[in-house]
Amino acid sequence: MKTPKRIQPLVEDGLVDEVLRQLMSGKEATVYVVRCGDDIRCAKVYKEASQRSFKQAAVYTEGRKTKNSRQARAMAKGSKYGREVQEEAWQNAEVDALYRLASAGVRVPVPYICFEGVLLMELLTDANGHAAPRLNDVAMSEALALDYHARLLRQVVLMLCAGMVHGDLSEYNILVDADGPVIIDLPQAVDAAANSNAGVMLERDVDNLRSYFGQFAPSLNGTQYGKEIWGLYQAGALTPDTPLSGRVKRETRPVDVRGVLREVEAVKQEEEARRRYLQDMES
Ligand SMILES: Nc1ncnc2c1ncn2[C@@H]1O[C@H](COP(=O)(O)OP(=O)(O)OP(=O)(O)O)[C@@H](O)[C@H]1O
Ligand SMILES: [Mg+2]
Repeated sequence: MKTPKRIQPLVEDGLVDEVLRQLMSGKEATVYVVRCGDDIRCAKVYKEASQRSFKQAAVYTEGRKTKNSRQARAMAKGSKYGREVQEEAWQNAEVDALYRLASAGVRVPVPYICFEGVLLMELLTDANGHAAPRLNDVAMSEALALDYHARLLRQVVLMLCAGMVHGDLSEYNILVDADGPVIIDLPQAVDAAANSNAGVMLERDVDNLRSYFGQFAPSLNGTQYGKEIWGLYQAGALTPDTPLSGRVKRETRPVDVRGVLREVEAVKQEEEARRRYLQDMES
């Protein structure tokens, strides 16, 4: 196909030889299948900030480090330069997360480079060599649901041991390649130690897995793996192979007031960021 404008710089730099076809156009990015020498890879082209939705909200970026204090000030002021710095940081967040997770042994696409707002990574494929389907599009039995749920919980634990929470985990951001489920789509991944919303997000991610697989394996429906995993992490007792029961001791305190307030604040910040984006788009 004709090279899309956004991929042209990668062709000029010799990173991509040919764009074969468009794979998907999502809310945040358009994904292409490309040829790099003898390898077939995947190119994720991020959309402009104004077209993106929630993933850049303050709840996700809190605790991320900036390169220097000048950039931090510019970002806080929202100047043109500040917005550019923010944009670049956001685009690099996914490739950084992929490198960190791949080296921790999490099943993610192998990253190659993020250049000019385009992430080059491994194309995940099924047993026939076709682009891997999303979990949501895979036929599911009770046994397979239990198997995938257990495998994905291990991936979530491994991720948390590497200091990260996905933050948008669902059946739409998991692909099933020839060897099973692989987690994708990580620009919003949060730093587990530096972001005060990490616990709420970890529980939400794990609850999403329960809701999805619970439709096929009802025995998952009463489980509390999210709470259990976060509790172990906070107690410094989580390792990649800590046994999990899906149960937590009953709270002795009646309500986790701080947790509830944090959640309320997270929702408020998300909504505020959304309004700011809509305003930016109008102006
Ligand atoms: N490494 C990969 N290998 C194969 N397919 C991929 C890969 N990365 C992304 N895709 C395909 O592109 C789609 C969109 O990718 P991704 O979820 O990263 O972007 P997104 O714009 O955030 O999407 P959405 O808004 O739909 O969540 C995926 O659902 C998947 O079908
Ligand atoms: Mg996605």
